[in-house]
Amino acid sequence: MAIVMDGKLVSNSIRSKIKEEIAALLVRKPKLATILVGNDESAKVYIRNKEKACLEVGILSVQVNLPEESTNEILLQTIEHLNNDSSVDGILIQMPLPKQLSTEEIIRTISPGKDVDCLHPLNLGFLCSGHAIFTPNTPQAVLSILDFYQISLQGKKAVVIGRSNIVGKPVSLLLLDRHATVTICHSKTIDLPSVAREADILVVATGRASMVNKNFIKPGAVVCDVGINYVDGKIKGDVEYESVFPLASYITPVPGGIGSLTTTMLLNNTLKAYHLHQ
Ligand SMILES: NC(=O)c1ccc[n+]([C@@H]2O[C@H](COP(=O)([O-])OP(=O)(O)OC[C@H]3O[C@@H](n4cnc5c(N)ncnc54)[C@H](OP(=O)(O)O)[C@@H]3O)[C@@H](O)[C@H]2O)c1
Repeated sequence: MAIVMDGKLVSNSIRSKIKEEIAALLVRKPKLATILVGNDESAKVYIRNKEKACLEVGILSVQVNLPEESTNEILLQTIEHLNNDSSVDGILIQMPLPKQLSTEEIIRTISPGKDVDCLHPLNLGFLCSGHAIFTPNTPQAVLSILDFYQISLQGKKAVVIGRSNIVGKPVSLLLLDRHATVTICHSKTIDLPSVAREADILVVATGRASMVNKNFIKPGAVVCDVGINYVDGKIKGDVEYESVFPLASYITPVPGGIGSLTTTMLLNNTLKAYHLHQ
């Protein structure tokens, strides 16, 4: 039977440290600017939740709402304005952006020192070279939950299923930095279950509900499920929890696991950005 790694517990513990640190800041408080383009209801909820989390720990937040039909130029000007605003520490752009906008150019315009989502190529370069200033929120959430439960990574065999730029690749780099031996799998991997069964640490980020079942698990493996899938109105992970739970030594639930920590990692990066600017 696995120990359930409780993302909310880890999140509360990290948030209370952030809150304490911010309460002690006398000169000014950190500030996060969020940019939302369009009227997507779920994007609005994400932004509201991030603002609520900021408020809870004492980070100031400012929201810029732009119409769906905004041009690249308008967005670039908005970012430049926030780059030059010394009261703003972090800039977060809610993704995905409408199709007429050039996401790559927009990301490259964010000042790397305010790039709290860790999307700018310079920050990704630092991450690749093992000198990360910011780490991407969801991959860092995986590392933070493993650290909280004191799961050692050095010399362990880690298998990551998924190679996206926002989850699979960066989480692999973070695990490698911590001296795990990392294998990255994807949709073309041959005999995925047998590769996954090699893993001491298995991180799953495929966006395929319940895809990883007991056939993928070495008994005693630590399983981190990054997946968030909506199935019949319910949130499901990429791991078939019921069949994997009895075999794993540790497992993250969905909901209540990695997803509970992502926003907390954003708060942490905003505080880091604040210290960079002081
Ligand atoms: N908890 C959070 O805060 C958070 C944040 C971000 C994402 N997520 C969730 O994490 C999951 C992954 O997100 P993402 O953005 O990384 O997704 P993505 O960009 O769609 O990438 C999915 C990856 O999984 C691989 N894959 C898909 N089907 C596979 C299969 N049958 N066998 C092996 N590999 C397969 C793909 O391989 P190819 O490269 O070969 O196509 C790709 O590399 C989603 O459920 C998403 O909702 C959660």
